[in-house]
Amino acid sequence: MNTVAQITIHPSQFPDAVRRDLLESLRSRQINHKFHYDSVKQTHRWLALHQAYAPSRTDPDCQRIYEAAFATAAAQHPALKAHVIGLGCGGGQKDTRLLRHLAALGRDLLYTPCDVSVPMVLVARAAALAVVPEENCLPLVCDLATADDLPEFFQTRRPAEVPRLITFFGMLPNFDPDAVMPRLAALLRPHDRLLLSANLAPGPDYAAGVERVLPQYDNELTRDWLMTLLLDLGVERGDGRLGFGIQEYPPGSGLRRIAALFRFERPRALLVEGERFDFAPGETLRVFFSYRYTPERVRRLLARHGLELREQWITDSEEEGVFLCRRA
Ligand SMILES: C[S@@+](CC[C@H](N)C(=O)[O-])C[C@H]1O[C@@H](n2cnc3c(N)ncnc32)[C@H](O)[C@@H]1O
Repeated sequence: MNTVAQITIHPSQFPDAVRRDLLESLRSRQINHKFHYDSVKQTHRWLALHQAYAPSRTDPDCQRIYEAAFATAAAQHPALKAHVIGLGCGGGQKDTRLLRHLAALGRDLLYTPCDVSVPMVLVARAAALAVVPEENCLPLVCDLATADDLPEFFQTRRPAEVPRLITFFGMLPNFDPDAVMPRLAALLRPHDRLLLSANLAPGPDYAAGVERVLPQYDNELTRDWLMTLLLDLGVERGDGRLGFGIQEYPPGSGLRRIAALFRFERPRALLVEGERFDFAPGETLRVFFSYRYTPERVRRLLARHGLELREQWITDSEEEGVFLCRRA
């Protein structure tokens, strides 16, 4: 049954902040990922894409590693009460499975689905209500990349004594790792745990592994989803082409990501929030990127930010991993 939902909206997603971030995306020619999940239309397109292609939905072996990670995290939870904070919760399917494991062990649950998108936190909330009492499900809309006071928010606006299980599923690929990891580390206290997932490059040769997965990104549902934003901003389909390629980024770091670039083939002027943006033929707009890691790269990244990898689960395909961590 649908009930009225109360959502907390952090200032990082107030309209003036969203406007500032959108204009910055266009000025820098680099779209902030959060704009791909903004509207109800984008949310539904992303959920359809996720349903069709996400290994966690389509690959039983991927489901197996998540179930194993959830069972371990739930069994190791050190208290009767558990606060699951789903950072970038999306539709909340994975968080809800973790919550089910915790509920099966008799834990009292508190859940904060957290996302930039109001529709996403509502979908995640609806999924979690099957396991979490409504008064303990406290959705938060916020931008993790810019909200600087989240540690204080969780300390003062949620029961601080309850140990946290923080999830960061499907998020690491879409963030500059050295910008987002300090934010995650700041939320983790000694008894808290972080469960995160990463898309991996399969096989012993990292560069070849990234090449191998490239075709997975180039499909109609992904194009439709990514083009939704550009079309809403006033780009027309015939203005250019959306292409997918591999970048080492930052240059010299050895880390690789798949990037989607829209290359303009004819001039296009966009008027957005009162500002004009001119794109010339040959110019590109980076629309999306997705880092691919190896388990060793994840471990090194965590260590660089004071986090210790406790356990990991990798699919047989070596394309996805789930990592359980704590403060070092
Ligand atoms: C790839 S989805 C992952 C969803 C879910 N965790 C899962 O694994 O199925 C990324 C999610 O992150 C959210 N997101 C993107 N940028 C964000 C940001 N800066 N702060 C918070 N959430 C963000 C999107 O709205 C989207 O729901």
